[in-house]
Amino acid sequence: MCGIVGYVGDQQALGVVVEGLRRLEYRGYDSAGVALCDAVRLHARKRSGKLANLDKVLDEQPLPGASIGIGHTRWATHGAPNDRNAHPHLDAAGRVAVVHNGIIENFAALRAELEQSGVEFASDTDTECVAHLLALELDRGLDLTAAMQSVCRRLEGAFTLVATAAADPSRVVGARRNSPLVVGLGDGENFLASDVAAFIAHTRQALELGQDQVVTITREGVRVTDFDGRPVEGTAYHVDWDLSAAEKGGYDWFMRKEIYEQPRAVADTLLGRFTREGTLQLDEMRLSDDELREVDKIIVLACGTSFYAGLVAKYAIEHWTRIPCEVELASEFRYRDPIVDHSTLVVAISQSGETMDTLQAIRHARQQRARVLSICNTNGSTMPRESDAVIYTHAGPEIGVASTKGFLTQIVACYLLALYLAQVRGTKFGDEITEIMDQIEAVPAALQKLLDGIGPVEELARELSTARSVLFLGRHAGYPVALEGALKLKELAYIHAEGFAAGELKHGPIALMEEGLPVFVVVPPQGRDQLHEKMVNNIQEIRARGARTIVLAEEGDEVVVPYADTLIRLPRVPTLLQPLVATVPLQVFACELATALGHDVDQPRNLAKSVTVE
Ligand code: G6P
Repeated sequence: MCGIVGYVGDQQALGVVVEGLRRLEYRGYDSAGVALCDAVRLHARKRSGKLANLDKVLDEQPLPGASIGIGHTRWATHGAPNDRNAHPHLDAAGRVAVVHNGIIENFAALRAELEQSGVEFASDTDTECVAHLLALELDRGLDLTAAMQSVCRRLEGAFTLVATAAADPSRVVGARRNSPLVVGLGDGENFLASDVAAFIAHTRQALELGQDQVVTITREGVRVTDFDGRPVEGTAYHVDWDLSAAEKGGYDWFMRKEIYEQPRAVADTLLGRFTREGTLQLDEMRLSDDELREVDKIIVLACGTSFYAGLVAKYAIEHWTRIPCEVELASEFRYRDPIVDHSTLVVAISQSGETMDTLQAIRHARQQRARVLSICNTNGSTMPRESDAVIYTHAGPEIGVASTKGFLTQIVACYLLALYLAQVRGTKFGDEITEIMDQIEAVPAALQKLLDGIGPVEELARELSTARSVLFLGRHAGYPVALEGALKLKELAYIHAEGFAAGELKHGPIALMEEGLPVFVVVPPQGRDQLHEKMVNNIQEIRARGARTIVLAEEGDEVVVPYADTLIRLPRVPTLLQPLVATVPLQVFACELATALGHDVDQPRNLAKSVTVE
């Protein structure tokens, strides 16, 4: 949600900043803008719409060379996504430029105060207040760092700010509260960005910032303080992926590349977790075994696709650990007076580690003394820092806005956690854990085989590209798969799609069935309870009403054949692992259908990858 870049160094800042914005465009694409600071003054260009529009402006109205620059790609909150609300925002005299991610909650009061003192606003944004406030502090003789500290003390809400001032052409100053900002440490150059992807082409050395900190970067170094100006230490770390991971590598979309990376992403997430002696080790686990034995309830909190990963995980967590597990949308959790105490383990699932609803939910849980474990894909992000333990998914950077490899690796991480709890609490014998781990470790090969034969799913997507509505049915762990399949289609193809629990069919959804309506059905593996049989009945019921059945069933399942208008074969895996394979054709279907419709798959309309506002 908004991407921010800042640069100081010997290179042409414009190139570095625009390239950084290109890698951050997944965070928002309502507008883009840059400001450069040369020895004389600030120069800014901005334009609504995608970065390509800014590129055009920069061609038509070139900027002078400069070694200091800031940039922004926007996901609109305050103010329509037009040119005047695009960032950077400058004060009236054009002495200071600022970019912002987040929402300044007391902006109305600040704006009224500034207007009373004669300031005229050029935009409808909350951000512009900061530009004017910084200018007033600079007028009082403060340098940009002190000005930023002073202004931040007055701000409420969530914000990452990055600013540059004409009077001080040696530094870029950033600040963060609740929204992400990382520092890239170069040689004779330094970077600020919402995400390391923005500077990965230049350095893999990064510095993690804490809450309520102000950072000043110059060519020579980096200085971090709190909002009162007291020096603090950032945490340095090495980024464990490189530029190639942040590029499309020959694919048309990042999303498609990320779908095909899933066998590797799952394998990497499993790497080194299971010892030869047959015990599980989660090295980022900072909760002791005794603490884990005290847990009497698990609450999984997440948003979007991560929430569906949580819904899948619940089946395994309860089955393997016998600990009651609730899964809740993070945005609902803290507004309903949830019952949480010291023996509750809250599991936050977030690819980005920055989603504001999830972050606020874990803060609320911690206030109630719950232990918090986060499952996260982003080193240096806020959630792991604010949790008692963390399991990283090693999916590598996920850039397509719609999550794919994030989802699969989150499920794997949840399963590792569940097995770890089962080991610690003795609800599974060692040989049972070994058997399940063997099954999970076979998943990457199964995924690869599935992807190698995915062509017919792509053909189906092209064939169904004029569909106005698509339904998805699932049962047990296949139910969240149906929800995820529908979400993917909504996000990417903008067509009506809904996921249902197959058992609910007769309680309403069956009324939607009509001639030719495409209905995906995720069939549980054969031989488990009566789930398979019941699902076959459901398929017959919808087919009898004219729906077009697209059946996802495991290899060797011949029972479904007569009822499937289209059959998509899944590798044979146990029921609890089926979501890991069944989701993939649905991802491919949505990606291909959106492509056929001519949509931008990586940047679907109105969405952003990392939602850092509530
Ligand atoms: C946004 C993205 C989704 C993602 C969700 C949660 O809505 O578009 O793809 O699942 O945020 O993100 P998180 O980073 O917390 O997993």
